[in-house]
Amino acid sequence: MIEFKNVDFEYDKERKVFDRLSFKIEKGESVGLIGANGAGKSTLMKLMLGLLDFKGEIIIDGLPVNKQNLSLIRKKIGYVLQNSDNQMFMPTVLDDIMFGPLNYGHSREEAEKIADEALLLLNLKDLKMRHNHKLSGGEKKMAAIATIIAMKPNIVLMDEPTSALDPYNRRKVIEIINSLNYTKLIASHDLDMILDTCDKVILLGKEGIAALGNAKDILMQKDLLEANRLELPLRYYYKSKL
Ligand SMILES: Nc1ncnc2c1ncn2[C@@H]1O[C@H](COP(=O)(O)OP(=O)(O)OP(=O)(O)O)[C@@H](O)[C@H]1O
Ligand SMILES: [Mg+2]
Repeated sequence: MIEFKNVDFEYDKERKVFDRLSFKIEKGESVGLIGANGAGKSTLMKLMLGLLDFKGEIIIDGLPVNKQNLSLIRKKIGYVLQNSDNQMFMPTVLDDIMFGPLNYGHSREEAEKIADEALLLLNLKDLKMRHNHKLSGGEKKMAAIATIIAMKPNIVLMDEPTSALDPYNRRKVIEIINSLNYTKLIASHDLDMILDTCDKVILLGKEGIAALGNAKDILMQKDLLEANRLELPLRYYYKSKL
């Protein structure tokens, strides 16, 4: 469903982010993307959305990421960016959630019904008519997640979906992620959330992929995690202290 083949990317000559990066994510897999600050998690997602120029090949559901395919590819991908300010661009929360369904050809009435269902599922009905730029950080994040629910995409990209969320909303988002049968790629430092939602993990290190495999196997390796500026998820950390 997602394939990177020898992808090279740099923002500038001093800052090479990926050097021949290759990996594959199969349909229906839920994959955690982890790594230190600056490892390239957000960059990897922006590459998939065609927001940055790169060398090599990225294939999404059979389509190479390039200018011609961009609008088709963006219809397949629902995403939550790390900074939700950059993605909510309509005046109200309702307008933003309706944007996807309208884009898929639904009438305004149908689109509002779909938006209402998404808001209900996330327990966000009070946010419906609020102005995006007047929401708190966590409220904005939740509203961005509602846009994905309404869009019913093939692929979900979430960059730090639980950062800024209170414990109730964090738990809610974990439940929602687990109820979505899409192909999912989730970047986060919340390794307990990754354990709760992902079957596989890609660990980005200084020289590309430091580990790729079963989520539990990788997230139990204290030395591997610490070598990459991470720590054991809390549930393993406390077990190791007993
Ligand atoms: N617009 C940009 N211009 C130049 N360099 C950038 C830009 N955006 C990111 N970088 C650099 O690219 C590298 C990868 O950044 P990226 O945002 O992908 O990291 P990340 O893994 O998402 O980090 P974090 O955990 O902090 O979210 C970093 O060294 C960062 O400083
Ligand atoms: Mg990031």
